[in-house]
Amino acid sequence: LTCERYPVRRLPFSTVSEEDLAAFEHIVPRRVITDPEELEASNVDWLRTMRGCSKVLLKPRTSEEVSHILRYCHEKNLAVNTQGGNTGLVGGSVPVFDEIILSTALMNQIISFQDISGILVCQAGCILEELNRYVEERDFIMPLDLGAKGSCHIGGNLATNAGGLRFLRYGSLRGTVLGLEVVLADGTILNCLTSLRKDNTGYDLKQLFIGSEGTLGVITAVSILCPPKPRAVNVAFLGCPGFAEVLQTFSTCKRMLGEILSAYEFMDAECMQLVRQHLHLTSPVQESPFYVLVETSGSRMEHDDEKLSSFLEHASSSGLVTDGTLATDQRKIKMLWALRERITEALGRDGYVYKYDVSLPVDRLYDLVTDLRARLGSKAKHVVGYGHLGDGNLHLNVTAEAFSQSLLGDLEPYVYEWTAGQRGSVSAEHGVGFKKQSVLGYSKPPEALQLMQQLKALLDPQGILNPYKTLPTRA
Ligand code: FAD
Ligand code: MLT
Ligand code: ZN
Repeated sequence: LTCERYPVRRLPFSTVSEEDLAAFEHIVPRRVITDPEELEASNVDWLRTMRGCSKVLLKPRTSEEVSHILRYCHEKNLAVNTQGGNTGLVGGSVPVFDEIILSTALMNQIISFQDISGILVCQAGCILEELNRYVEERDFIMPLDLGAKGSCHIGGNLATNAGGLRFLRYGSLRGTVLGLEVVLADGTILNCLTSLRKDNTGYDLKQLFIGSEGTLGVITAVSILCPPKPRAVNVAFLGCPGFAEVLQTFSTCKRMLGEILSAYEFMDAECMQLVRQHLHLTSPVQESPFYVLVETSGSRMEHDDEKLSSFLEHASSSGLVTDGTLATDQRKIKMLWALRERITEALGRDGYVYKYDVSLPVDRLYDLVTDLRARLGSKAKHVVGYGHLGDGNLHLNVTAEAFSQSLLGDLEPYVYEWTAGQRGSVSAEHGVGFKKQSVLGYSKPPEALQLMQQLKALLDPQGILNPYKTLPTRA
């Protein structure tokens, strides 16, 4: 078997037999899915660029069930692909061949919430938006937010170490996750589900699993620190005449808004054109080469208003910003955020999407987009840049009517070499999955890759967990 666009060979795992199905039925009664129609959605990724051919989907409810499944698969040499909300963008969430899909969809229970500390403990299959609603009712918010919130699972967020829209303020999940429960490849339940802010007892094992994309273990539960819900939230959506002004506005924001700055996102004019054309969203400001979304979150509205007004006054009088609009009510805030959050969706409707997610020195961030536009000319439909500017994270996306090997050849390794030339990261926040495993070397030295392979071999000696993903596949 060879996967069409990305040549790989199926490793010698067993194939699922009738006997295996009977064993699974025993472990998770009536939650063994083999109906091809039902399996279709789990075999295809969100971007619809990858398709596996798994014949079985398992839906455990408890960590013990996950443990039984993995112990069995380990014994029988059956490969397993853990799946959360299947919103991953690097082909990690769907099988490459016939791996068993282990879904966390039914592992959606909240275990506890501490009102004073804001510590939430829940199962890995809880949907991010639902968790946010739950904690908001208790005057807290989740420390992360992303466009896929309505479908992605907290376990999937951790497995990919998702960044998203609140990263600038609340930082990486590596800081806000306090504990994890993980089931290892052989079925061992590793209970590190503590809720302590400080705990220096040996190696911080949970960090190994955060961002490991289901290749080292299955995350079954999480303990996470939620920040208090800000009393005052403002969003300004601004038009900038050039990228230099986008950068200058960012510096000004940091200086003038200080601790209340909670997001600084940018998008270019082509992104705006795409959300207008495909989603019928209209720009609330005059047409500009660039747009930025500035969010403030604080504890006193008058204080924040004052700071924001003087920032806006300065930005417009100095020509950094040519037009802008401000939102303080929930409805308009949502509307402004949608312009930025829904770019991914608009791109998907534009055609085949070549997706790059890189970290770069912020002053060179947009040069890659400009270079690529010149390099591709009319070969691409759109070359767009948007992303989490405040975190130095560019989303570079190229669309075309259909997939073309020749266009791919123009993009790669060019984009990766360009990024490596700036000592950037070839995957800022989406992970490696299936699509990026061969390019890890652009951002990591051989010694680091070797140590990763050794860790993988230690934790999953048979390589049954998410094979063909994350690490370069060895022949
Ligand atoms: P899946 O897609 O199901 O899986 C992703 C990976 O994690 C796979 O390798 C899978 O095997 C593994 N996995 C899933 N659950 C577990 C588990 N319990 N244990 C072990 N491994 C597991 N990402 C960002 O970083 N920032 C963004 O702003 C952002 N915005 C997005 C917006 C849209 C519209 C979309 C479609 C995606 C976006 N993403 C973003 C991609 C992001 O990776 C995911 O949305 C999210 O983190 C994945 O969660 P999921 O539950 O869908 O995981
Ligand atoms: C975003 O920031 O919108 C997400 O990471 C998704 C994407 O890159 O398209
Ligand atoms: Zn992003």
